[in-house]
Amino acid sequence: MKVVVVGSGGREHAIAWALAKSPRISEVICVPGNGGTAGEPKCRNIDIPVSDSAAVVAACSSELAGDGDFVVIGPEDPLAAGLSDRLAGAGLRVVGPRQKPAALEASKDAAKRFMAKYGVACAKSETFSSANDAIAALRNGSGPVVVKADGLAAGKGVVVAADRVTAEAAVRDFMIEGTLGGAGRQVVLEEYLQGDEISILAAVSVTPEIAAAGRARIVPFLPARDHKRLRDGATGPNTGGMGAIAPVPGLDEATLARFRADILEPTLRGLVEERYDYRGFIFFGLMLTASGPKLLEYNVRLGDPETQAVFPLMDFDFAGMCEAVIDGTLADFPFAWKDGFCCSPVAVSGGYPGEYRKGVPLTIDGARASEAGAKVFVAGAKMDRRAPKGGNAGVGLVTAGGRVLAASARGTTLDEARERAYRALEACFFDGMFFRRDIGLPGAAASPAL
Ligand code: AMP
Ligand code: GLY
Repeated sequence: MKVVVVGSGGREHAIAWALAKSPRISEVICVPGNGGTAGEPKCRNIDIPVSDSAAVVAACSSELAGDGDFVVIGPEDPLAAGLSDRLAGAGLRVVGPRQKPAALEASKDAAKRFMAKYGVACAKSETFSSANDAIAALRNGSGPVVVKADGLAAGKGVVVAADRVTAEAAVRDFMIEGTLGGAGRQVVLEEYLQGDEISILAAVSVTPEIAAAGRARIVPFLPARDHKRLRDGATGPNTGGMGAIAPVPGLDEATLARFRADILEPTLRGLVEERYDYRGFIFFGLMLTASGPKLLEYNVRLGDPETQAVFPLMDFDFAGMCEAVIDGTLADFPFAWKDGFCCSPVAVSGGYPGEYRKGVPLTIDGARASEAGAKVFVAGAKMDRRAPKGGNAGVGLVTAGGRVLAASARGTTLDEARERAYRALEACFFDGMFFRRDIGLPGAAASPAL
């Protein structure tokens, strides 16, 4: 069986790695993949940009001819643009929701409406399409507030404002200055919630037919925690994620039960009632508040870097799980997780999340990383075309993004996982390499004090 993975990040390297481990998969084709997937057994990259959906569909159609073959779509942009619909239209089997449900991530307003309609526990909010109305609402209130641009903004669309002056400035930036383009045409003003943040990734299998057979399911994976701030002690600017751990220590069964009752189940009910074709992954961004878990956001994909911390703990055949998602047999799928913890610190280019250099030579001593009991997932790095072919794995890589790689290691305890992951980072080098040293330590993911 062959499979195509669409995307080029660390998450897609982890997806490709997990698929390639399945004895039933003969080849994983990565479109376009990265320098990590290029060196992964059974994997092959095809250099087509994700944004060229016609070329992606053509490549998938010509590569996948076998009965069970399928495509996994990693990132949100192609999902929001309807790639899943186009691939399905070409007769391909797809893991990745259709365009309509992808609005749960692509529009904060659509997500909030869905949460309200189906009674999903979340922060109170109001959507505005006029800057004056939004500013008037801010002037009528007091205290911290969260300003969210409606559309996809690559992590730049949320401002947690300690006061109304900061909030008003964000509304002006998004709606009047247009700093985010069309993504900021509408804004959502949201109640500020306090607590610890966690991420729960889940597999989803919903279509009207699957629901009619009583088989619609959302199955959560182990809970994970991202670390968004650039520097140790949760300081410095927000980033795309400086490292993740799974599972989350100290998370009790009562909280998870409330998550299932107040968030997961109403979400499933909503996906079914809207008659969506949602076969793929969902990401619940949660705040654990004093009055229970509240949903901050849906993503219609797996998290990055959460995937790199969760996948090494899988004790099941990921390819088989993808088939269960497509076929509506998730209810019978034998999910199982390894004991212990996984820690996955991320190494970034110096200067990130601001300006940084690209094309910097990167070496990964894979043997040394394995000795430390870790797996290195590559994100922003590609093969240097000028480098000679062959030779040691990892030679010939150059950086190509802000977040360059993540070293994932398991341990019986979180401390052991941390120690192994950081030892593996010592086997990776590029000029300007920067990483946090406290991923997984208590308090390292604290929410910003206002
Ligand atoms: P989002 O993209 O909606 O998850 O927002 C990005 C980040 O902003 C989250 O990971 C939180 O740290 C923070 N955030 C979002 N909504 C809220 C809220 N209502 N209260 C406090 N912090 C929030
Ligand atoms: N780690 C957060 C995200 O994937 O959106």
